[in-house]
Amino acid sequence: MGFPKLLSPNKIESLEPMGTNYANQDGSVSQRLIDYHVAKAKGGFGFVIIEATAVDPCGKTIANQLGLWSNEHIAGVKKIVDECHKYGSKVSVQLCHAGRETNALITDIHLVSSSATPSPKCLEIPSELTTEEVYGIIQKFVDAARRCWDASVDAVEVHAAYGYLIDQFLSSRMNKRVDEFGGNLENRMRFLLLIIQGIRQQVDNAYPIIVRISDEEGSSGGFSITEISTIVRHLEDAGVNAILVSTRPGYLAYLAEKIKKSVKIPVIIKFLLLPLADTLNLISQRIFGRLARRIWSN
Ligand SMILES: Cc1cc2nc3c(=O)[nH]c(=O)nc-3n(C[C@H](O)[C@H](O)[C@H](O)COP(=O)(O)O)c2cc1C
Repeated sequence: MGFPKLLSPNKIESLEPMGTNYANQDGSVSQRLIDYHVAKAKGGFGFVIIEATAVDPCGKTIANQLGLWSNEHIAGVKKIVDECHKYGSKVSVQLCHAGRETNALITDIHLVSSSATPSPKCLEIPSELTTEEVYGIIQKFVDAARRCWDASVDAVEVHAAYGYLIDQFLSSRMNKRVDEFGGNLENRMRFLLLIIQGIRQQVDNAYPIIVRISDEEGSSGGFSITEISTIVRHLEDAGVNAILVSTRPGYLAYLAEKIKKSVKIPVIIKFLLLPLADTLNLISQRIFGRLARRIWSN
């Protein structure tokens, strides 16, 4: 697979994803959403990232969020991908479940989480998922990834950051479970690792899987760098192709450098404009950047 547009000089190749609320209420693709993403491909982006996409209506963060919980969603996503491909752009989709980090007015269903503790932001008390339900949600992530594959999407990004459901399992502050998904880090990682292993079984060995993970003080409020290093090592062993560290605003390249020491796969950070020497130093370590809105204010 060639990526001729990704490596051309002096160009912005990709922007951080932004939830648009442009999908239809049933999670299907609207013409407005197609136009929005295709405009980026037309404009010359080498990599178009389709924003957080719900694997289950219960995990929606916004009312008109794109969904991939049904085979009926495949055709619409394929339209976006086929159009972007015409302009030589590659396309990825972020797979996401918000868990407790949303609102029942949006989901229309009672919220769920690793444990029955409310998010300080959203306040609603979620139901603790039964062990069987946890396996059910793992399957929903795997099925959604399979639908991406069917829609010719070029890569999937599993959203394990922002205090969303996967983060709610990873973080000892949020996860109070006593089954095989709670307790020590090995158990807390199980949810994410089973998702990755399940996806890898469904798609080609070469199919890129990216994981977006919180930084040490991310919304989960509490991984140590040692814990993050252990998690990313396991992700690499499970077949993940790149890690995106979802940092707070600020120059956190030092964190990416620390994480990079634990893995051979590329590490991506949200990029601020750095002095050229720093940028080249990061790239030489296979640490890459994605531009977010902040570029415009720099
Ligand atoms: C309206 C809005 C929607 C966003 N949607 C997503 C999303 O779907 N997935 C995601 O990973 N990040 C999302 N983000 C986070 C941005 O991609 C970006 O990482 C964040 O805004 C930090 O960059 P900034 O400081 O330049 O805003 C969103 C941010 C905003 C403001």
